[in-house]
This record gives sequence, structure tokens and C-alpha cells, in this order.
Amino acid sequence: MSSFDRFPLVVTIDGPAASGKSSTATAVAARLGVRHVDSGMLYRSVTAARLQAGDAPDLWTEQSVLEAARRVTLKPGETDFVPCIDGTDCGDALHGDAVTSTVSLVAKMSHVRAWVNIAVRSTAASHEVVVDGRDMGTAVFPDARLKVWLVALPVERARRRLLQRTGRAPTPAELSAETAELEARDLKDREQTQPAADAVWIDTTGISQDEQVGRIVALAEERR
Ligand code: DC
Repeated sequence: MSSFDRFPLVVTIDGPAASGKSSTATAVAARLGVRHVDSGMLYRSVTAARLQAGDAPDLWTEQSVLEAARRVTLKPGETDFVPCIDGTDCGDALHGDAVTSTVSLVAKMSHVRAWVNIAVRSTAASHEVVVDGRDMGTAVFPDARLKVWLVALPVERARRRLLQRTGRAPTPAELSAETAELEARDLKDREQTQPAADAVWIDTTGISQDEQVGRIVALAEERR
């Protein structure tokens, strides 16, 4: 028995926006029979809770965002941990424009980051988990058994995102607008979006979702 065996499995999956982290992490967790934790959804939930006050985001203090964070909890589900505001799952609203355009501001606040990190770490105290985000393998679980860094070209990430949103192949104009938007988000989030030195890099540009999930599951099984 290695010293690892005394600790529950933690797999971290990090990468830039629309690199497929969440869908990959959901599928990997299902295949491993462990729970999925999406740290981006926690930042989104805190943002949604703070937005409810109705004042302009550029006037928000970090203290007021932290007060909103107190209303956010992670509820254990069958297959994941669900972020709730006042006990209610906010679902799709967390991916709406209001939250998406404001969440980077919230994710820059160091005390909010510390709050999210504690919430995410607490899930791994009692469960095996696959966690996804930007800094799960660096700031949150530096000792994770397996760390994955997912990358894909911006244009490929944009194409996938549009396909998911509209169900059809994008026009060249749509593709270039979405690529520009993703590159702008990459820039906003770049400070906290960093690979761990010991992460396994997977470039998903030319491979299917099934293939990337299969590779990560195989690596996790090896290290379990
Ligand atoms: O992955 P996402 O789009 O749901 O992330 C939402 C925002 O939260 C985005 O601005 C990046 C930020 N984020 C972060 O800074 N650190 C994480 N671990 C996860 C997300």
C-alpha cells in the first residue's frame, strides 16, 4: 500500500474558458464513480447572489460580495456538489449574460477566492472528487493524485461553444466574434488560469470528448 492510499482520490481538471473542463469532469467523475465539483459554478453563484441587490457591479466592495457568499452552500447530490443560493439550486441562470459578464470581477477578489477554495476543499474531506476550474491543481489541491490541464485553440473552443448553444455549425462571422470574446475572457482570467508544474497536458483540439475522458480515466485508475 502506498502512502497515497490513505487519502481519498482527488483529480483536478483545469484550463481556460470553454476548454471542455466541466463536461469532461462530469464524465470522468461518472466513470470513476466519484463526485464532481465545478469551482466556476461557485464563483458564478456568489456573483448571482450579489447581483440580487441590484446595484452596479463596479461599486461592489469585496466585503459586500463576501456577505453574499455566506448565502451560498454546496449541497451534496448523487453525482456532484450543487451550489445553492439560500438553499435553492440556481441552475441555468448561472450561465446567463448577467452573471457571465460580472463573474471575472468577483473571481479577482482575493478573499472571495479564499472562501471558494475552502468550500471546494471541504468536499474532498469526506468524498473522492473530480474538481474543475482554473487553479484547482495549483492553489486548491497542490497534492492532488492527478492534475490535468486541458487546452484547445481559441477558434476550436469558440466552435464548440457555438455548436452547443445553437445546435448548428457557426457562420464565419459568428465564429470570429465568439473567438474574440473568448480571447478577451482568457485575458481577464489569465492570472488565476495557470497549469500546475506536474499537470498532464491534454490538447483536445483534434480529439473527441470520449477520447479525452478515456485518457483521464485511465490515468486516474493507474494512480488510484
Ligand atoms: O469556468 P467558468 O466560466 O464557469 O468560470 C467562471 C469564472 O470564474 C471565470 O471568470 C473564471 C473564474 N474561475 C476562477 O477564477 N477560478 C476557478 N477555479 C474557477 C473559475
